[in-house]
Amino acid sequence: MEFQRLYTQVLIIGSGIAGCTAALTLADAGHDVTLINAGSGLDNSELAQGGIIYQAAEGNDAKALERDILVAGHRYNHTRAVRHLCRKGPEAIEKILIERAEVVFDRRTDGSWHLTREGGHSAPRIMHRADYTGRAIMEGLMAQVKASSRIRVLTGRSAIDLLTSRHHAREAAYRYTVQNRCLGAYVFNEEHGHPETILADWTILATGGVGQVFLHSTNSPSCVGSGVSMAHRAGVALANLEFMQFHPTALYQKMSNRRPLITEALRGEGARLLDAEGTPFMPRYDKRGDLAPRDIVAQAMLSEMLRTGAPCLYLDVSRVEEDLETRFPTVFRNCAKIGINICKEPIPVVPAAHYFCGGILTDDYGRTTLEGLYAVGECACTGVHGANRLASTSLLEGLVWGWSAGQDVARRAGSRTVLSRRMQDAIPDWVPLGDEKNDDPALLTQDWASIRNTMWNYVGISRSTARLRRAFEELRDLSRHIHDFYKRTRLSRPLVDLFHGSHTAYVITQAALRNKESLGCHCRTD
Ligand code: SIN
Repeated sequence: MEFQRLYTQVLIIGSGIAGCTAALTLADAGHDVTLINAGSGLDNSELAQGGIIYQAAEGNDAKALERDILVAGHRYNHTRAVRHLCRKGPEAIEKILIERAEVVFDRRTDGSWHLTREGGHSAPRIMHRADYTGRAIMEGLMAQVKASSRIRVLTGRSAIDLLTSRHHAREAAYRYTVQNRCLGAYVFNEEHGHPETILADWTILATGGVGQVFLHSTNSPSCVGSGVSMAHRAGVALANLEFMQFHPTALYQKMSNRRPLITEALRGEGARLLDAEGTPFMPRYDKRGDLAPRDIVAQAMLSEMLRTGAPCLYLDVSRVEEDLETRFPTVFRNCAKIGINICKEPIPVVPAAHYFCGGILTDDYGRTTLEGLYAVGECACTGVHGANRLASTSLLEGLVWGWSAGQDVARRAGSRTVLSRRMQDAIPDWVPLGDEKNDDPALLTQDWASIRNTMWNYVGISRSTARLRRAFEELRDLSRHIHDFYKRTRLSRPLVDLFHGSHTAYVITQAALRNKESLGCHCRTD
């Protein structure tokens, strides 16, 4: 579908678990929604392997879950948000995933749920579909989204910038209002190669994570922090940007930067980390051993690799009692592709950038500090994760906040239109910044290599003032240079991604430099 300009009641940017849940909730409440995505390969939610926490909403078990989230997060969490997650979680799973999207989760032979365990959990409470839980959930949700007559899905679209009354309105009456408001977004249509204007009463950012700004990441290619970068430019409050979680076990491949996830559920089922001599080392670092929270395991792994000079460590899965190929087909296949038979040999693993615990500051409804703008899922900072996320809380957070935001927008929108005709007319279409043709991929590749290496080496698992300062200076210069390039050059999807990625890397580094306290996944050696 080609258009230059479009009005929609609700614009949702991103189609992972949070975006799809918000879309379905709104459509079911009778609202028209436009859902856009870049549509390039797998969505990050689809890559989730381990599972989703399913736990009674009340009683001792619920209290134990709250405690585990707070302990993993070093009590830097927002307790109200943690409670919101634990209270709404089970109902959201039952109503949206099981009843509405008909997702099938694994059961035991007696019919009860097959619940597994991961690091930092005091009990097995993680519901899953083998080791492709994210894919099972997204197939169910996407089928419902596509079947809904109220949801228009536009693929091949990357958001460029948020539209706000103060920044974009041509009429003084809107520019001078004290209350700034989000009015939609400029979006790049990849197929037709031009920007579009999508005007919306309500905009929900569900753009996912930032892992791709690091050299090694488990994330999908679209995770360049576009939501964070757009929100920052629009003056929206961000929080906890220094807390980037590194997953301890990504598959190590000598000749490739690709780092497929090796699910933590393997350790939940008995797998152990070994050093190059085949000795388990985690008990030396933490009394919870291989099931300590992720920040502790990733930092212990880094220490071991530095101590021995080994490029990777090993995951010994020989003690896992279940049939490995049936229970962990994704891991089995990914390892087989590089010639490793996990039934016979340990898996070479290294930590990789995995989950962003910070992001766009939101309340329990996903509202941000900008009127009309919501953020849900990984791009948002609800406060649930504090300084380090507990395993398998992310799908649940995306689901609960997608649902809460959808309900809140539906309640506030009612049957009224926020953007009057006059207000819509006050917003101009995108004015091309420059027209210089650039089809030399070497320039973009080099800029990405600089960003990713800088983030990995200086803003990675272990940070110091000297490293962060160096990163800050390099990223500031690079950002300026990319901004300049962006202004001169004809827009393209890779250029939009680079622009978002460099901005995101810069604001993460700035936050890491400011916070001198070592805590959770912001580990400062000085
Ligand atoms: C995993 O399966 O280890 C990842 C799950 C998560 O990040 O919560």
